[in-house]
This record gives sequence, structure tokens and C-alpha cells, in this order.
Amino acid sequence: MKGKQVLLTGGTGGLGLGVTPAVLARGGVVTIPYHSETGIKRLQETLSAASLNCIRFVKTDLMDEKQVEKLVADMGRVDVLIHLVGGFSMGPTHQFSFEDWGQSLALNLNTTFLVCKHSLKLMRQSGYGRIVTVSSGAGVKPTAQLAAYSAAKAGVIALTQAIAEENKYFNITANTVLPSIIDTPSNRQAMGTDRIDKWVKPESLAEVICFLASEGARDIRGAALPVYGNI
Ligand SMILES: NC(=O)c1ccc[n+]([C@@H]2O[C@H](COP(=O)([O-])OP(=O)(O)OC[C@H]3O[C@@H](n4cnc5c(N)ncnc54)[C@H](OP(=O)(O)O)[C@@H]3O)[C@@H](O)[C@H]2O)c1
Repeated sequence: MKGKQVLLTGGTGGLGLGVTPAVLARGGVVTIPYHSETGIKRLQETLSAASLNCIRFVKTDLMDEKQVEKLVADMGRVDVLIHLVGGFSMGPTHQFSFEDWGQSLALNLNTTFLVCKHSLKLMRQSGYGRIVTVSSGAGVKPTAQLAAYSAAKAGVIALTQAIAEENKYFNITANTVLPSIIDTPSNRQAMGTDRIDKWVKPESLAEVICFLASEGARDIRGAALPVYGNI
């Protein structure tokens, strides 16, 4: 990834704490669209000044197409898109509000569509692109109480695979990872630490994501890769 322009969404989130340093260690020049200052502060505390010099933070709401279009156009070139943004929701379908349903699709699926759409325009011009999206185990094995999240993450798989097919003659790949539970600060807070040895470490998932985003993964297209740890 040395010298590659990397659009890394969700780089300040829990998984981002593992992925951002991994991309920087491989020499990527990183743009992170951010939402809240809190996430930036937490990430900054974990990185050296030299690493921070290789990141550009741009305040962007990825649910807004105009903002996504500007973010990508201002980059001028996107070699690698790693889209981590997404979020969990749960509840029984008969009580789930339509508003929350829409929010889950917007956060998980619509953001994926928007960042892929606009990055692909530049990737097709330059004839190079690596796209890695984040689905979930729930996208292939939906369970009770997770209808909205599972449907949105199944959509992320379908979208990523369609993009992989559409762009196979343009040196552009698209693949997605399916994590189970990731060992993030939020999950530790919500579920305690008793079972963290079974969860996937952000650093470990970062290795998989960085491989899929690398030159070496040029022949992998449309993969939906389970990364379940010991669950
Ligand atoms: N955590 C798990 O156990 C788990 C399991 C399976 C799959 N996943 C998937 O893995 C991915 C990363 O999860 P995570 O735990 O790292 O989530 P997280 O800690 O909640 O981080 C989400 C990131 O997305 C950013 N974001 C949210 N809404 C945004 C918007 N509208 N525009 C721009 N940025 C926005 C957040 O930025 P701000 O903080 O600035 O809002 C944050 O950096 C998600 O797709 C999630 O569904 C997670």
C-alpha cells in the first residue's frame, strides 16, 4: 500500500483503532472522514506524530451524497477504499420502528453505496482500485432480533459482489469481511470482558482487510470472508 491514496471510513471507530495503524504501517496515505471529535482524540492518543502526519481528517457525513462526492473529488485519486462505517441495532421485528429500520439501512448499506459509487468513478479513470467493505456474520446467518442489521449487512455483501463483477476488467477488486464480535471498547463496555479471548481483535481483522486491499489480492473478487475468531 506504499504511497497509495487510501480512503478509510470509520478509521476513528473501535475497529479503526486496529485498521488505521495497520494501513499507516504499510505506507498508505490516509484520508479519514470523521463525524465526532471524540473519536479523533481517542485515535490520536494511540498514534505517533509521524503517523498522524500521514492522515488527513475531513469532517463528513457519509449519509449525505453531496458531502461524499466532495470528499472523494477533493482526494483527486482513490487507490484503496476501506469502508468500516456501520453500526449495530437489535429488537424484535414486530416492535421495530420504521425509522430505526431506515437508520440501519442508511448507516450500513447507503454509506457503502455512496463511498463505493464516488470512489469507483476515480478508480475507473486511473485503472486501479481495491475496495474492502465490512459486512457481518449476521449478513449470512441472520438471527432473532437482528432483522434490520442482518438485512443491511446482507445488502453490503450483495452490493460488494455486484461491484466486483462490474469492475473485473478494470483492475478493480471488491471484497467484504464478515466479522463476528470484535474486541472493541464499546463491546467491552456493553458485554464485559469474560469472553474477550473468543472475540476477534481489531489488529487481527486489520491484517485480513489490509491483505484484501493489497496488490497481492489482485485475483480475489467478490469474496465474503468469515472472520469469526473463536466464536
Ligand atoms: N463491533 C463489532 O463487534 C462488529 C461485529 C461485526 C461487524 N461489525 C462492523 O464493523 C464495522 C466497524 O464497527 P465498529 O465497532 O468499529 O463501529 P464503531 O466503533 O461504532 O465505529 C463506527 C465509525 O463510523 C463512523 N461513522 C458513523 N456514522 C458516520 C457517518 N454518518 N459519517 C461518517 N462517519 C460515520 C464513526 O465516527 P464517529 O465516531 O465520528 O461518529 C466511527 O468512526 C461496522 O461496519 C460494524 O457494523 C462490527
